[in-house]
Amino acid sequence: MSDFTFLKGDKNWWRQAVVYQIYPRSFKDFNGDGIGDLRGIISKVPYLSSLGIDAVWMSPFYPSALADGGYDVDDYRDIDPRIGTLAEFDELVDELHKANIRLIVDIVPNHSGSNHVWFQEALKAAPGSPERNRYIFRDGKGENGEIRPSELTSHFGPTAWTRITEPDGSPGQWYMHLFASEQPDWNWDNPEVRADFEKTIKFWCDRGVDGFRVDVAHALIKDLANGHLPERSSYDVEVMKDDGTDDLFDRDEVHEIYASWRRIFNEYDPPRMGVAEAWVHANRRPPYASEKGLGQSFNFDMLGTGWDAKEVKRIAKYNLTAAEKSGSSTTWVQDNHDVIRHVTRFGLPEVTNFFDWYGKNRFRAQVDLGLGTARANAFTAMLLALPGSSYIYQGEELGLPEVLDIPAEDMQDPQFFRNPDLGLSRDGCRVPLPWERTGSSFGFGSNGSHLPQPAWFGGYSVEAEDGVDGSNLEFYRRALHTRRGLLTDESISWKNHLFNSKIVHFERANGWQSITNFGEKPVPLPKGEVVLTSQPLVGGKLGPNTTAWIVSVPAKLTSDDGTLITIGAAAAMFDSSVDAGGAVDGGGFGGDGGASAS
Ligand code: GLC
Repeated sequence: MSDFTFLKGDKNWWRQAVVYQIYPRSFKDFNGDGIGDLRGIISKVPYLSSLGIDAVWMSPFYPSALADGGYDVDDYRDIDPRIGTLAEFDELVDELHKANIRLIVDIVPNHSGSNHVWFQEALKAAPGSPERNRYIFRDGKGENGEIRPSELTSHFGPTAWTRITEPDGSPGQWYMHLFASEQPDWNWDNPEVRADFEKTIKFWCDRGVDGFRVDVAHALIKDLANGHLPERSSYDVEVMKDDGTDDLFDRDEVHEIYASWRRIFNEYDPPRMGVAEAWVHANRRPPYASEKGLGQSFNFDMLGTGWDAKEVKRIAKYNLTAAEKSGSSTTWVQDNHDVIRHVTRFGLPEVTNFFDWYGKNRFRAQVDLGLGTARANAFTAMLLALPGSSYIYQGEELGLPEVLDIPAEDMQDPQFFRNPDLGLSRDGCRVPLPWERTGSSFGFGSNGSHLPQPAWFGGYSVEAEDGVDGSNLEFYRRALHTRRGLLTDESISWKNHLFNSKIVHFERANGWQSITNFGEKPVPLPKGEVVLTSQPLVGGKLGPNTTAWIVSVPAKLTSDDGTLITIGAAAAMFDSSVDAGGAVDGGGFGGDGGASAS
């Protein structure tokens, strides 16, 4: 097991960390079975280290029938044999820790996989038995129980109820699943379920993991007392109550569970961290992020924004203030395994609901990848400069576009099969990574890949971009290493531009400024040393769709080997021609910097 004593001490490591998400089945296939594995990840630790990330978040790697890409967990305390072994897991933890990279694992507490031993026991046991009481079984309505217990729909569509066949062969009870039918929901009112998850948390903490990403963290507790069953579509934040009394989501009692996990986290040095995937009303995120709870909660607000300076500023300010109130730091996310890759998203025609658009237009997409990539990288630099932690999804650093033309017969996402009319699928962002320009699966493995890779993938490979000036990979590396050197406390000052509302501009406590041009015309830069641009400057100015980082006072940069680099040697005054508003709000959260230009 991992001896990670050298990482002890810093209990706040996560607050402004850059976390790189690995979707294990699509990262690197070492044994040539077409599925990524732990050995593959171990072989790429030097690559991860070269990026300048602080932590890895691994999506599920547990034994699973893969009905939902591993989010159908059949055993929470083991490794899928196609992915590796516990010994390899320990080796991975060691290798990451040696490279000074923390490890966050995904935990899926709302539902198990249907091959979980307890679900199999429940199927074999009688209605009303303790075995059935670990899940949510109900009798059907109608004379013979043939009508499902309620009109609750699954997030993947259509219904959230599946009927079982009783051991004697007769049509039987129904069980609830907010997702696919292979993902039966746990009954969290059952103390056995709670105790088992505590055991799981301890199991991985003891193996040296540094934190947990908690899947669907807001759904565990449901109001099912006195025969009540929700009759609605699941997962719709719009219709969810925002006072802790919704019958399906975000009930106040869920925080008792996270308080008990927190007690476990705090038994370790440093305390383990948790980050909630909780799709709740924004005002309801703080308890998940509290230090009595998981510690951090995802804000996904940037995933739905278009190229809109005003909206971006609003989201940034709102989330920074909210995180400060909960004593946490916020998270910035542009990409993950559930959403369309952001270079593609930003290259789509302007539409408000990208998820809808994608479903309806997948096969005739008109994507302007040049524009999309420019905007995506400008966004990345802007988000990396904001206080808080940044979550990056594998392949994002390569500028990898969404694969839009996966044939229906190759699709794996249950969302695709359960809702055929919508054409929705998350497979396009889960296609295995290209490591080499050519060859079998572009260096992903030696024997193909579990989702088909398009012919153009090699052009986005690590081999094609490594060490190449101007490549996406080198831009990410430079951004992450520069950020590391500039990182300072979590205060921020917003700078207003009275005559140009299409600029997002802020400064951190040490004079590190980030300025993004959302407009159509180049804008002058503030004085100081330009330490990063997402695209070359245009005649010394910041062109459209570009972010620049400027250090306006002498700042000390620490390089990775600990040497100090001084940049911006002469103190530079802020250029008043750029900042017509002029006022800085004194480093507080969410202030508007005085003038009302946003
Ligand atoms: C989360 C995961 C998603 C999964 C779902 C059900 O939203 O990110 O991939 O399908 O939970 O576990």
